Amino acid sequence: MPPTPDGIQGSDFIVEKSNWRNTRLVPSPIDGRLDPSEVLFRVDRFALTSNNISYAMAGDTLGYWKFFPAEEGWGRIPAMGFGEVIRSEHPDVIEGERYFGFFPMSHHLVVQASSVNPTSFSDAAPQRSDAAPVYRQYMNSKHDAMYREDREDQMLLLRGLFMTSFLVDDFIEDNDFFGAQDFVISSASSKTAIALATLLARRSRGRVIGLTSPRNCAFVESLSGYDEVVVYAEIKSLASDVPVVFIDHSGNGEVVDSLHHHLGDNLKYSCMVGGTHWDSSNRSNDLPGARPTFFFAPAQIQKRAQEWGPAGFQERLGDAWHRFDASSDAWLEVQRGAGAADLERVYQDILDGRAQPHHGHVLSLWDA
Ligand SMILES: NC(=O)c1ccc[n+]([C@@H]2O[C@H](COP(=O)([O-])OP(=O)(O)OC[C@H]3O[C@@H](n4cnc5c(N)ncnc54)[C@H](OP(=O)(O)O)[C@@H]3O)[C@@H](O)[C@H]2O)c1
Repeated sequence: MPPTPDGIQGSDFIVEKSNWRNTRLVPSPIDGRLDPSEVLFRVDRFALTSNNISYAMAGDTLGYWKFFPAEEGWGRIPAMGFGEVIRSEHPDVIEGERYFGFFPMSHHLVVQASSVNPTSFSDAAPQRSDAAPVYRQYMNSKHDAMYREDREDQMLLLRGLFMTSFLVDDFIEDNDFFGAQDFVISSASSKTAIALATLLARRSRGRVIGLTSPRNCAFVESLSGYDEVVVYAEIKSLASDVPVVFIDHSGNGEVVDSLHHHLGDNLKYSCMVGGTHWDSSNRSNDLPGARPTFFFAPAQIQKRAQEWGPAGFQERLGDAWHRFDASSDAWLEVQRGAGAADLERVYQDILDGRAQPHHGHVLSLWDA
């Protein structure tokens, strides 16, 4: 998009907060003048998975809509992306450098650089001030130990999701596996679930069982992390006489109810991580077995950062990430899309669960 005399033209992909199927592309001209410390990014490309739909789901409760404000009643869903600095009013943020972090699905983003160091800076914009530091941080690719130029797409698609699964796996180990012999993972075809299955399988501490829908069953069976794959309608075929940990990525009330009733007291821990089946019914209260408990990643990060030290934490995470990243080539097929029409098509497919599980969508609002 060519610069105009007084600024820069661009647009934002916005979503109606009360109906996420309703989207619009709205012009978003940027005033060429930046305030001191402000940085203008060209949003190069970003990943889109079900996790981004969860940001819309939790937009009001967890504040994701506040990150990148839009007109009344509409929101900009955050996505992991790469942006290139095209103007900077901060002396230590250099034009032409490339950063990894949360971006809106837009052509551009203006942030307010603070806590700048060679590896990263934080956006100090007031609307993001109460977000966790990880949601405000931009990592400079030149100095990011986990960055590899030829793995940018994998990093966009998997790095954030992997971090959660690394913490869930660590939390389970830290609790002596809750005495479980089986680990049941729902939405087994999701990238977050695949990461967890891969990590749990490596520990060889019990069977890793994937729950999925019929359309994704063959794909999940083709993965190396799962010992057994069961479709949702056949939960009752699972062994119910051994201790089990359940990690839910579906948020599907019917699935959760059915598993709790089937396993009863043998369900030793029920860990709520995600809600891919966002249009399903809610789970019941007072279910048999362990009480469903939301996974709170920051608590495990804090615990391990204290025990291992920040460098020890990063080293363990980095080692596990590099192994998982390399193994993802066996199942992940990156699909690049460019321009508003590609974004709209992929967004609607992901929203309605039509996307192929082996596809990893990396998109840009810029035309190819
Ligand atoms: N709490 C956290 O910190 C955290 C961090 C990362 C991810 N998560 C959550 O983990 C979940 C997985 O995220 P992801 O990005 O890894 O997902 P993904 O790879 O995009 O997962 C796609 C899978 O989700 C299921 N699905 C997606 N949309 C659906 C729909 N509309 N109806 C029915 N099924 C649908 C299908 O799996 P099946 O057929 O196998 O069910 C589909 O193959 C998300 O809910 C995400 O928010 C949470």
